[in-house]
Amino acid sequence: MVQSTGPKKIKSAVFISGTGSNLRSLIQFSKKNNSPISIDLIISDNPKAKGLKFGKIFKISKKVFNYDHKIIAEKKIISELKNKNIKLICLAGFMKILSKDFIKSFKGKILNIHPSLLPKYKGLDTHQRAMSNREKYSGCTVHLVNSRLDSGKIILQKKVKISKSETVKSLAKKVLIQEHKLYPKAIRKVFSL
Ligand code: GRF
Repeated sequence: MVQSTGPKKIKSAVFISGTGSNLRSLIQFSKKNNSPISIDLIISDNPKAKGLKFGKIFKISKKVFNYDHKIIAEKKIISELKNKNIKLICLAGFMKILSKDFIKSFKGKILNIHPSLLPKYKGLDTHQRAMSNREKYSGCTVHLVNSRLDSGKIILQKKVKISKSETVKSLAKKVLIQEHKLYPKAIRKVFSL
């Protein structure tokens, strides 16, 4: 008997530089029957990124690109993405800033997750800065990537309360748990619009 493979999923790539916990949650999401995406490629600038292990575990191709020359690295990445017919890029802890040209060639097809309630705390050390400013809430944001850092159209956000005894570490952990839920939800939203 021929099994139905269901509707075609959008081929996606996830870009990482570190632990890859968002990558793992995206892979698990992509395996659901009703997920709009499949993950077909993992890209990293860092050969030591712990998250690369998920390529092996889940049998997904992974590629590491040397970023000594950013323009060359991006050219190679673009050709890899085209080869694999990738239609969506999910940045998940990718620590390099994509060039304007790169963003243009995938316009409206690059998502990022950021550990703050944007437009507050763009860039690095978000938890430290939120706590130093005695914020009562922080959270995470999934947004479209444009040429200005952490400034593209917001898709979804999740707020978390900063407790009295909060530390940067505990806040990071609390926000990360929400990131793992928010990214799949945001992807569903993008494809239902
Ligand atoms: C997350 O906090 C994400 O928001 C930020 O980098 C971190 C990546 O964590 N951009 P992980 O590698 O997905 O565990």
